[in-house]
This record gives sequence, C-alpha cells and structure tokens, in this order.
Amino acid sequence: MLVRVFYVSAAVGPQTTAVTQSILQQSQAYNCQHGITGVLLQGQGIYLQALEGEQDEVNRLYARIASDPRHNRVEMVHCENIEQRRYGNWSMAHAELSDLDPMTQIEWQTFDPHSITGLLVLARIDQLIETGQMIG
Ligand SMILES: Cc1cc2nc3c(=O)[nH]c(=O)nc-3n(C[C@H](O)[C@H](O)[C@H](O)COP(=O)(O)O)c2cc1C
Repeated sequence: MLVRVFYVSAAVGPQTTAVTQSILQQSQAYNCQHGITGVLLQGQGIYLQALEGEQDEVNRLYARIASDPRHNRVEMVHCENIEQRRYGNWSMAHAELSDLDPMTQIEWQTFDPHSITGLLVLARIDQLIETGQMIG
C-alpha cells in the first residue's frame, strides 16, 4: 500500500548549503533504492518534508530521519493512503523557504502540529512547483 506523509521539524544548527547537500545526497541514493519519492522544503530553521512510498519503507525511513541529530521536534502532520504519487519524478526535490513563507510562520512555543494540515502543505508545494522554485 502506498502512503504519503508530511512532517515538520526544527533544524539543529544553521541550515547551510553543505548540510542541505549532504541530506540531499543521502536522500537521493537511499530513496532511489527503496522506492521513496518526495520533496524537502527548508529554511528559517524549519524542515518540511513529504515522503511517498510503500508503507513499510516510509515507516522505516521516517524512523531513521526522526532520529537524525540535525533536527529535532519532528512532528508528523499528515499521513494518508494514496493511489498515485504526486512527486513520483523526484527521489527528493528541494526548495528554500523564505522568512515570508507561510510555512515558516510556525510558533514553536505553542506549536500544534494539527494546525498545519496536509491540504495546506500540499497547496504550498504545488505553488512552489508552479512558480519554478522546486529543484528536482
Ligand atoms: C530534514 C532531513 C531529511 C532527510 N531526508 C532523508 C530522506 O529522504 N532519505 C534518506 O535516506 N535520508 C534522509 N535524511 C538523512 C537520514 O536522517 C539519515 O542521516 C541517513 O538516512 C543516513 O542514515 P544512517 O546514518 O543511519 O546510515 C534526512 C535528514 C534530515 C535531517
């Protein structure tokens, strides 16, 4: 069964190009081998990632990612069974979030993961794709 999950997390340390490159390199190699596709949005101390794939593969990867010391406060915000992938062309696409991006306006003090719905994230990713800001 195919699933898609979205999670948000808080970066530990600065989100430098070197950190991003290292995450993307690891992701592309592993994800290709395990049938995972998705997108990674990052910026302003936040990561927001979509992962798609077979349920057991996504669960296994999510557990690995959640224990990665480069971020904390990893919160699943959405999980659904899907018929088709949305990000099937990308082992892990990537976009930078600006300080004005609605996705970076999270109030971590009072953060309720349910305040970020799957629909909201999906719509924002669609916008980033349409405006050519997603790097595949
Ligand atoms: C925000 C974030 C997103 C990540 N996304 C992925 C991913 O999609 N696929 C992947 O294999 N590793 C991803 N990683 C890296 C994994 O957490 C982990 O470091 C990597 O799989 C190597 O694991 P290992 O050290 O146990 O071999 C991500 C890490 C972070 C911080």
